[in-house]
Amino acid sequence: MSEHHDIFKIIKKRRTTNGHFLKKPLSEAHIKMLMEAASCAPSHFNSQPWRFVLIRDAERRKALGKIAGQSMQVVMQKGDFWKRYLKYFRFSKEETEKSGDGIHIDNMPAALRPFIKFIFSEKGGEVMNKLRVPWILAIDSKKLVSNAPLILGVLLSKDEYKPQEKSGMYCLLSLGMAIENIWLTATALGIGVQFISLPMEAGSEYWQKCVDLVSPPPEFEMIALFRFGYIDPEGKRPTIDWSSTQRKDISEFCFEERFGNGWRPSIENGKQTENG
Ligand SMILES: Cc1cc2nc3c(=O)[nH]c(=O)nc-3n(C[C@H](O)[C@H](O)[C@H](O)COP(=O)(O)O)c2cc1C
Repeated sequence: MSEHHDIFKIIKKRRTTNGHFLKKPLSEAHIKMLMEAASCAPSHFNSQPWRFVLIRDAERRKALGKIAGQSMQVVMQKGDFWKRYLKYFRFSKEETEKSGDGIHIDNMPAALRPFIKFIFSEKGGEVMNKLRVPWILAIDSKKLVSNAPLILGVLLSKDEYKPQEKSGMYCLLSLGMAIENIWLTATALGIGVQFISLPMEAGSEYWQKCVDLVSPPPEFEMIALFRFGYIDPEGKRPTIDWSSTQRKDISEFCFEERFGNGWRPSIENGKQTENG
């Protein structure tokens, strides 16, 4: 098999890890590979505007876990965040297959299962709070973040990252490519990755607390937080959990000559994957 197939296998294998990682710290060699992978990413004028902060200290991780838990609770209680994204919530395999996108909420305590569709609905907020869903999610989130052996703070130089200017967009594209390089390398090494975006969603005071822990100078802006750890094949799933392996058909997002004219490869499935 060619190298091309190897990278394609890793790309297809990459996933978000929602559950707990092994308690083992990441090796220095592996962290070095993750950072080398980041530095190989393209960036406008080779500006390499990204910065990464490795957070491994147990106290600091615990503090971030606490903020993540609080943020989860606030966001779920308030309801505006998940109501905004309700259109991506799926409740059955059939629904996921039909839409090809979204997240399938496929793990719930048995007592909540009959209410699931209602809990996550426009009118479900009250029931959600009554059934203590925000607290269930918050407890899991706190543990998941505190126990992750590595939390990665991702930053951009404000010198380049100016959201109103083209360079702002270039910076975000470059950073996205660097993060994907890290994520694919992590996948190859058996390391799982998960975005921690709830502190950003909960409101600026929660995000600011995370920023304070990372303490960047004023010329840098923290853009995102991720948690990393070795994947535990026997790891328990979070109490309420989702999966999202389904993808849209290529013809739904790739067009020929003109937007909307879905492209279908003129080869049979599995027979040909590259130029020849
Ligand atoms: C910008 C961005 C923000 C995300 N935020 C979260 C998050 O807060 N929590 C989480 O578990 N996953 C988060 N994700 C992961 C997506 O839910 C996930 O990539 C998608 O469902 C596809 O699943 P996969 O990564 O397993 O292929 C985020 C992904 C992106 C690109």
